[in-house]
Amino acid sequence: MTKPISAETGRAALRALIQERSPLGPLKVMARHVGRFFQIPLSFFRPYVVFGPESNRKVLVTERNKVLWRNTDPVTDILNRGVLIVDGEEHDRYRELMEPALHPSTLAGYTPMILAYTERVSSQWKDGDVVDMLVEGRKIALLIIMDALFSKDVWDDLPHIWKPILKAIEYISPGAWILWRKMPRPSFRKPLKMLDAYLFGIIEERRKQKGARNDLLQHLIDAGLSDQIIRDQMLTMMIAGHDTSTALFAWVFAMLGQHPQIHQKLVNEVDALEKSPLLDHVIKETLRMYPPIHIGNRRMAQDMEFAEGTVPAGERLFYSIYLTHHDESIWEDAERFCPERFAQGRKTPPFSYVPFGGGPRACIGAAFGQAEARLVLSYLLKRYTFEFTGHAIRPYMGATLEPSPGVRMKVTRRTVISDHSPINLHNE
Ligand code: HEM
Repeated sequence: MTKPISAETGRAALRALIQERSPLGPLKVMARHVGRFFQIPLSFFRPYVVFGPESNRKVLVTERNKVLWRNTDPVTDILNRGVLIVDGEEHDRYRELMEPALHPSTLAGYTPMILAYTERVSSQWKDGDVVDMLVEGRKIALLIIMDALFSKDVWDDLPHIWKPILKAIEYISPGAWILWRKMPRPSFRKPLKMLDAYLFGIIEERRKQKGARNDLLQHLIDAGLSDQIIRDQMLTMMIAGHDTSTALFAWVFAMLGQHPQIHQKLVNEVDALEKSPLLDHVIKETLRMYPPIHIGNRRMAQDMEFAEGTVPAGERLFYSIYLTHHDESIWEDAERFCPERFAQGRKTPPFSYVPFGGGPRACIGAAFGQAEARLVLSYLLKRYTFEFTGHAIRPYMGATLEPSPGVRMKVTRRTVISDHSPINLHNE
């Protein structure tokens, strides 16, 4: 049972939706008026929403056997049996096969490749160009993930796969299908088919090469999985592994653009130090304010009791990373971008900072994603000046939370480059 939503809360939520043009507005209103446990009061969509360290710990760790990851969503249609959305032993098997390629000990090996793609994309910029860091970041993240996991240089294929990938992301983003689950979506058929053909092509090519590589794709092939199941893991990793990093890169630039003093301090520090602590803090604070994955989506296998109420079996549950990260009782001045809050180590309770989820189903790419962000951002900040064009930015809830309508910045190549030292991959 949940507390009934008052008419006043309903009106405030509607006002927030109109003002912020994002469902984050009403979610914040519900959190403020009702608390850390509520049910979205729509007749056609009534998920429960919980947030805060105690609930996060329950859902992610102590009572995780009461929840299922598999739901009935477009994400399930498209990812089929991808590791993100299967449960039990099937999940554990796929995860175990994929973990070695993303183990922290392998990360240093990816450094030259990550820097090379960052260079390749940024070398296309001409002095004075205004570039959208959401688009440029996506190019970089996509090239990196395809090479890291499938040893595939997709540079020449980008024009061909770009739109199908964006369509796949749009397919799983919140949309009108929430109102009408089985609505026909004919415009997606062709691009999704094209993307499948592309991935099946990579698998076929590799099968002919007979053990030529030691990457994630090879581990899946060597385990004897079918082409269909390998395609499911590839699509899952391709989307989960680049759309999140894309959002993170773009939000970092949005935050730096809106906080010129922090931006300048960061450039100075990245120039001066081999490993900039401020860069880590900027990344962490950006992930706090704008977690690319802002909710975790579950289906209850059994009733689960929270301090504030019970979510019955069969219901949909969201644990909200965004609301946890914006809770004023945990985070002082939560709406302020303040990287220094991460300077003195952890001050907030466990499970109050969960940009990568937690427990056994925490993000498989967390170490990779953070190392990648440090490398890409320090490379770019050392070589270019970025001037924000000052346009309005709002969080858009797609498959990830991304800055809309992008982050347009004027780029100029810097004349003095301070980068003579290897970039340190490891955090703290
Ligand atoms: C900044 C970058 C990233 C962020 C913020 C992020 C965030 C997350 C979060 C919050 C979850 C847990 C969701 C839940 O509890 O429902 C998750 C899971 C996952 N992430 Fe990431 N992620 C990032 C990068 C990556 C990368 C680089 C990869 C792949 C190389 C990846 C692959 C996955 C997969 C496969 C899962 C599901 C794990 C499982 O269920 O066992 N992510 N990610």
